[in-house]
Amino acid sequence: MTPRPIARITGLGACLPPTVVTNADFEKSLDTSDQWIVERTGIRERRIAGPDLTLAEMCRVASTKALAQANLSAKDLDVIILGTVTPDRRLPATACDLQALLGATNAAAFDISAACPGFVYGLAIARGFIASGQANRILVLGAEKLSTVTDSTDRSTAVLFGDGAGGVVVEPADDSGRGILSSVLGADGTLADLLYIPGGGSADPVSEKVVRERSHFIKMAGREVFKAAVLAMSRACDGALAQAGITADQIDLLVPHQANIRIIEATAKHAGIPMDKVMVNVDRFGNTSAATIPLALDQGVAEGRIKPGSLLLLVTFGAGFTWGSVVVRW
Ligand code: ACO
Repeated sequence: MTPRPIARITGLGACLPPTVVTNADFEKSLDTSDQWIVERTGIRERRIAGPDLTLAEMCRVASTKALAQANLSAKDLDVIILGTVTPDRRLPATACDLQALLGATNAAAFDISAACPGFVYGLAIARGFIASGQANRILVLGAEKLSTVTDSTDRSTAVLFGDGAGGVVVEPADDSGRGILSSVLGADGTLADLLYIPGGGSADPVSEKVVRERSHFIKMAGREVFKAAVLAMSRACDGALAQAGITADQIDLLVPHQANIRIIEATAKHAGIPMDKVMVNVDRFGNTSAATIPLALDQGVAEGRIKPGSLLLLVTFGAGFTWGSVVVRW
């Protein structure tokens, strides 16, 4: 039986930086080709935020839209949760900078570090806050400036990542049956070194050595990550569907993490969801980590593919490894 939702999404907003970097741009600086990038990843272009566009500002733009849609003012917010691995500063949390920018004076604010699943982890936390009665109006964002941790000289990662921000307002569910029906989260820290930033943390603080060795940038064993991503996302979908008491054929739209079109296709195939019911925008924005799902939701709504009552399956995977899946009746 489908459970009654406790929390529902009442507002949505996104922000994409204006600068577009195409595969042809990489052909000028790296030993790569548009053909390789498109065939192996499905990516054609990505958006990059320059030094003048902070993560907090991208979040502010997305949040303002989400709040307007929810008919709330920033002062109504109880909590701000930001999923990101690229905060503007190591201290404080960018969620606090955002709280100040918005004037959300009544809100607690914190970042969560769960890599690409940061937004889905945030949704699950928001749902828990509402279930416990601790908070009622929660802003959940996924936002990244991955361009700041991507090594422009490493062709195996440089072409993959992009920047962007998206977020939603989560409030208690009403009687409509709309809301978050299930959530499954997971992690496997034994595989952390397959996708990580080795230097610049407290284990190996910023130093000349770190910069010289370029260890402040993302390192990834792509093939191994690929296999783990397909397995974990497939299992997470199964778990979230089972917990929601629904079957894949009832899903109106699969909204997967946008890292690679081949991972998306394999996950959809496992779930038994045809590609015409799958949100894909990795071609335009690349992998924006925690931002991919809210960006895809925003596009899905704008294109009329997500309507009130649509049944959505969100699924994601990233560094940690971490993964998560959520079923939402929009
Ligand atoms: N252009 C041309 N050749 C390249 C490029 C490039 N940009 N990048 C790698 N290659 C080469 C490699 O050097 C290798 O050459 P070799 O055979 O001579 O050694 C060859 O292409 C094949 O490399 P693979 O890594 O095996 O290629 P693969 O088909 O696996 O594709 C990719 C690589 C796109 C990275 C893929 O493995 C992938 O998408 N992995 C998962 C990424 C992901 O899901 N990340 C998770 C979330 S990210 C986060 O959490 C922040």
